Amino acid sequence: MPIYKNGKPVTASDGSVMHCHGAGILEYGGYYYLFGEDRRDRRRVSCYRSKDLVNWEFRNICLSLDSETKRHYVRTDLRLAPKNSGPMTPEEAAAISLQPIGHRGANIERPKVLYCEATGKFVMWMHFENGRDYNAARCAVAVCDTVDGDYVYMGSFNPVGNMSRDCTLYKDDDGTAYFISSARDNADMMIYRLSEDYLTVAEHVKTLWPGQFREAPVLFKENGKYYMLTSRCTGWSPNQSGWAEADAIDGHWSSIRPFGNETTFNTQPTAVVKVGDVWLYIGDRWDPSDYLNSTMVYLPINLENGCSIDWASEVNIDGGKITTFAGDIGELRIMLPGCTDYLGGDGYNVFTKKLAYANTGLLWLVEEKSGCVVLRHKDSGRCLSSEGVLDEYKDGDDRLLWELRDADEGKLFINRRTGKSLLAFGRRVILTDGDDRHFGGYTFVKNY
Ligand code: GAL
Repeated sequence: MPIYKNGKPVTASDGSVMHCHGAGILEYGGYYYLFGEDRRDRRRVSCYRSKDLVNWEFRNICLSLDSETKRHYVRTDLRLAPKNSGPMTPEEAAAISLQPIGHRGANIERPKVLYCEATGKFVMWMHFENGRDYNAARCAVAVCDTVDGDYVYMGSFNPVGNMSRDCTLYKDDDGTAYFISSARDNADMMIYRLSEDYLTVAEHVKTLWPGQFREAPVLFKENGKYYMLTSRCTGWSPNQSGWAEADAIDGHWSSIRPFGNETTFNTQPTAVVKVGDVWLYIGDRWDPSDYLNSTMVYLPINLENGCSIDWASEVNIDGGKITTFAGDIGELRIMLPGCTDYLGGDGYNVFTKKLAYANTGLLWLVEEKSGCVVLRHKDSGRCLSSEGVLDEYKDGDDRLLWELRDADEGKLFINRRTGKSLLAFGRRVILTDGDDRHFGGYTFVKNY
């Protein structure tokens, strides 16, 4: 039975761990082709294929810093004449370069590929940055005669002059293709209709949710209705995604409604694919401490009452049918505010980590056992615990007295002295003593 284990590294048929992040899926010739970020060495976009979305075969590094480049005029400035020949200005040379700064290569994110019937070519759109910062905010295009061949890089640009970061592609039933990307420093989500050859933007058709800062767009259509998934902008840290709907791609889009839990089960949208009658959500589970450890999560989308997903640790994709196994909740991580570092993260059901108690020199051990969080004092061995009836706690020095209380979202540790809460047990647990002194807003994230 082809069973996909969510959040676990995937070993491809050649025995290597799959690197295909921020991926997009193209169904072609009886296979699912997955194109995604591969940041190893000079690689940029790798392609894998599968018949069942579980067993993946490595096919090619479709784009690397050594890819062939070809000049392609895209009108993003005030020059009147297209220039596909003649000497290039330094700007033009930079736009078709994958190594814009010294030896540092371009950063390529969220590559997506469509097949263009009109030209018989495969066209890749992606997010381009210079490899140093996120200020270029450009999209880039590459093209190939075969689905998983060596793509020719056609350069990067700002679509109709806009910034363009997280992005996706969508091909409608009539073959019209759209590029969707975050603009204006991610404040707005843009929809652009592509030219017939899919190589450039023909028209900006919609500005969605201006000022609402959305990214990680994914678009699909079911029963004549368009659905878009997006996330908020919190970098590599997960947040609650949203979904919206529209009857026409350039028509009225609904407001954004919550999708998944507070962390979208620790994922960020990257793709969807239809399996039988069901749309399968594919999210990146980023590892901010080591990007290359990032994994993928599949969850079937329920469209019966809006658009929703439930957690499943295993997804069985068998003969076009999806069944899921909820399983355990996974590990718990402690995230520092404003940081991409995690404390913790080892082990699966149980782990123990030290939590420094600011500069007082005290240390807590944070343990998770079968879904319960336990804070144990290193020296006294006493616990702040969500288990059992332990409801008072005094630290070794008699300095703090805590009380465990039931609260709407779970349990709260109340500091008897200040009346402020230390932490709450919910799916997302804020760990602070309220004075922001001791634990200063550490956040527990259940790593679904
Ligand atoms: C995320 C985005 C990713 C990547 C990351 C970099 O918000 O969705 O694709 O750009 O930020 O911090």
